[in-house]
Amino acid sequence: MTQLGAAGNPLRVAIIGSGPAGFYTVSNFLKHDDMVVEMDMYERLPTPFGLVRAGVAPDHQKYKTVTKGYDKSANISTFRFFGNVEYGRHVKLEDLQRYYHQVIFATGAQSDRSLGIPGETLEGSHSATDFVAWYNGHPDYADYQFNLDCEAAAIVGLGNVAIDVARILCKTPDELGATDMADYAVEALRHSRVKTVYILGRRGPAQAAFTPPEIREMGELEDADVHVLKEEAELDALSREAMEASGDRNTPKNVEAIQAYAERESKGKNKQLTIRFLVSPVELIGDDQGRVSAVKIVRNEIIRDDKGRIGARPTQETETLPVGLVFRSVGYRGIPLPEVPFDDSAGVIPNVSGRVTDQAGSVLEGMYVAGWIKRGPSGVIGTNKVDAKDTVQCMVEDAKAGRTFSPEQPGVDEALAMVKSRQPDLVTYSDWKKIDEVELERGRESNRPRVKITNVPDFLGVLER
Ligand SMILES: Cc1cc2nc3c(=O)[nH]c(=O)nc-3n(C[C@H](O)[C@H](O)[C@H](O)COP(=O)(O)OP(=O)(O)OC[C@H]3O[C@@H](n4cnc5c(N)ncnc54)[C@H](O)[C@@H]3O)c2cc1C
Ligand SMILES: NC(=O)c1ccc[n+]([C@@H]2O[C@H](COP(=O)([O-])OP(=O)(O)OC[C@H]3O[C@@H](n4cnc5c(N)ncnc54)[C@H](OP(=O)(O)O)[C@@H]3O)[C@@H](O)[C@H]2O)c1
Repeated sequence: MTQLGAAGNPLRVAIIGSGPAGFYTVSNFLKHDDMVVEMDMYERLPTPFGLVRAGVAPDHQKYKTVTKGYDKSANISTFRFFGNVEYGRHVKLEDLQRYYHQVIFATGAQSDRSLGIPGETLEGSHSATDFVAWYNGHPDYADYQFNLDCEAAAIVGLGNVAIDVARILCKTPDELGATDMADYAVEALRHSRVKTVYILGRRGPAQAAFTPPEIREMGELEDADVHVLKEEAELDALSREAMEASGDRNTPKNVEAIQAYAERESKGKNKQLTIRFLVSPVELIGDDQGRVSAVKIVRNEIIRDDKGRIGARPTQETETLPVGLVFRSVGYRGIPLPEVPFDDSAGVIPNVSGRVTDQAGSVLEGMYVAGWIKRGPSGVIGTNKVDAKDTVQCMVEDAKAGRTFSPEQPGVDEALAMVKSRQPDLVTYSDWKKIDEVELERGRESNRPRVKITNVPDFLGVLER
């Protein structure tokens, strides 16, 4: 038998998930031009691109242009897309072991973290994850309902997702109508009565997780004033010292933007966004129908914890903000996959440099991870490129050393036959391009980037199935 990866004996890889991590796995394998690698990408949705389609904000189209690069990867003859096929439901680990030498899980972080405070299950309390997936037309979330018939909403967390959610709540119907937001969400937000939006950060301006362009953009909203309380914009001595010592270039820019908001006069716009610092929600208060009516917050003070990190400690001072909606935006979370080890405390698949390990830390041959399910829910799209590169390097090394599964049927036709037998409504990449063209054409007709299809039967309808 020739060496694995030679022309007569291609390395066969199953990639689970078609987000950035999945596609950067493909492009990184292509850089190893001494190896022939056949790649099949499995995606549970009929559409590719993960959070680039269903997470990245609809008014931030420029970030979505990365998909042009993903298209290039998809066009190579050794790549196939198996959309509408879910690992764990249609195919199992033992199937993949029969047809592939290696499998890489790039399934992202499909769930969210909770706050663990009383009232979190009241009606009107949601995760940002659900809201984001809903307004972006993710088929699993299209039927969700959000009560936008209230005057005030609070978003917990100081990350870029919190900023996205606040921006979407503050934009005008015309601004939203010009995006590729799901039609039902544009319509629901058109009738929104929300006029007051709070972002609640548990630490101070120097610890915010958002990035300078995103916080500056909040000052340019057409019909929303942005406010910061002067006393919350001021840095305490510990934060100032830590900011100067860290050399991080984003923090001073964030602080500058926040302090400029604290000096701003209200321009009398229709909506009011207030970014609060050093406050934590301690309880969501309900009305007599079990719906959120207020959030009780406690004032925090900055401390250095015993590990030397800057943390927040609650004081005795509390406040109650009347709100009808609360979005917790305190991080996404990975979910376990059948027959794959899972680190429940970190919400990731345990691994060493992308090689999956069991709970005891021993490497499991043939199994790899990339992206958010490998390192947790942090980092921008580009972060997944380097992340996938490191894993692919391990995969190539292991393949060359013969540390792989031993597939009984390592043929492209056999794998395809198996997939079709499990999911007759398989969506290929050329099927996706048909769907894409329909969405883009509908977009051109209405002067929008695209008009999204948001349910599986309609995707299949476009393919005349
Ligand atoms: C709301 C939000 C907005 C963001 N905005 C930006 C931005 O503007 N700019 C930026 O650079 N970064 C942004 N990011 C970060 C960026 O989206 C992530 O870094 C990136 O998407 C993570 O890539 P991933 O491939 O690990 O996961 P994902 O993008 O989540 O992809 C995972 C894929 O796996 C699929 N999958 C899951 N389980 C299975 C299964 N069992 N079988 C088959 N398929 C499965 C999913 O359907 C999904 O398509 C944003 C993140 C969020 C949450
Ligand atoms: N435009 C963009 O480029 C863009 C847009 C969206 C997302 N993204 C990226 O996607 C990744 C995920 O973003 P994210 O916003 O979900 O996560 P994130 O950046 O990790 O921010 C999470 C926020 O939640 C706070 N938090 C955590 N637990 C909390 C609790 N119990 N109570 C109160 N606050 C709590 C954190 O505060 P502490 O710091 O105090 O823990 C932090 O402010 C990030 O890397 C982000 O940059 C990028």
